[in-house]
Amino acid sequence: MNAAVRSVARCAIYNKMEVYGIERGYEGLIDGDIKELSVSSVSDILQRGGTMLRTARSKRFMTPEGFQRALDMLENFEIEGLVVVGGDGSYRGGVELTKAGVRVMGLPGTIDNDLAYTDFTIGFDTAVNTVLSAIGNIRDTSSSHGRCTVIEVMGRHCGDIALYAGLCGGAESILIPEETVDMNAICRTLIQGRNRGKLHSIILRAEGIEMSSNELADTIMERTGMETKVVVLGYIQRGGTPTARDRILASQMGCEAVNLLISDSSSQAIGISGDEIIHYDLEKALEMKRKHNKSLMELAEILSI
Ligand code: F6P
Repeated sequence: MNAAVRSVARCAIYNKMEVYGIERGYEGLIDGDIKELSVSSVSDILQRGGTMLRTARSKRFMTPEGFQRALDMLENFEIEGLVVVGGDGSYRGGVELTKAGVRVMGLPGTIDNDLAYTDFTIGFDTAVNTVLSAIGNIRDTSSSHGRCTVIEVMGRHCGDIALYAGLCGGAESILIPEETVDMNAICRTLIQGRNRGKLHSIILRAEGIEMSSNELADTIMERTGMETKVVVLGYIQRGGTPTARDRILASQMGCEAVNLLISDSSSQAIGISGDEIIHYDLEKALEMKRKHNKSLMELAEILSI
């Protein structure tokens, strides 16, 4: 997110625009927490996780009074275009502002990779790499003890973190909310692996799966006899130094948001398709239905035999 903020600020200043940073998202907008950004205000943030502008979930923005106050603030500061970095909720707020006559550019900032219109969101690659590094550490102790470990990762409705990290981390099974859990297949893979002399087993479970991580571990122990531990990675996935891929993506998307504002474009959601930076009408982008990558899931299954 910091790479996106830096890119928006610097591209806008490069194009002789005035730039303001709004702290704590819509909540800060309502409170008038708005400061002018200079080239140096966004120095030394590229390598930091989180966001220098901070963030908040704003209930007040959803009330008519709060929403009107947000509009008044935009007018007070003579803000002609708003760049929003966030996920589904932030975009919904952007659609409402658009209906009230504000031009909004959406940058997809969420580790979940759950926005249908873009191949990737800002933060996803960093989260996957964090999980990958955790898999490496957990695998060491898992092998030493001959254990199975259930690693719970983020993703309430979208299993991409589990899928991508599981594929490149060599997980035995990957459980994502988009597919039904096949307990027989999970246990079979574990037993076959053990019979071949495998010392460790890693199961990646996205948090959105109905069966909890503890239930899953208990079922595995009962049905295979393997000692099974649970590790919940939680918020470590939402911090840390961003990867090169994420910084490049955020830099490209931030600049595209500025270019769209310069070209007087209506509200758009910025994304990536293949290698190309793309944009869709903000409201239409939100209506798109996400399909998970079935072929990656199949590949992960083939490779985990
Ligand atoms: O950013 C999305 C997400 O990481 C989800 O995967 C997770 O369930 C959620 O945020 C948790 O966010 P919080 O606890 O801050 O509401």
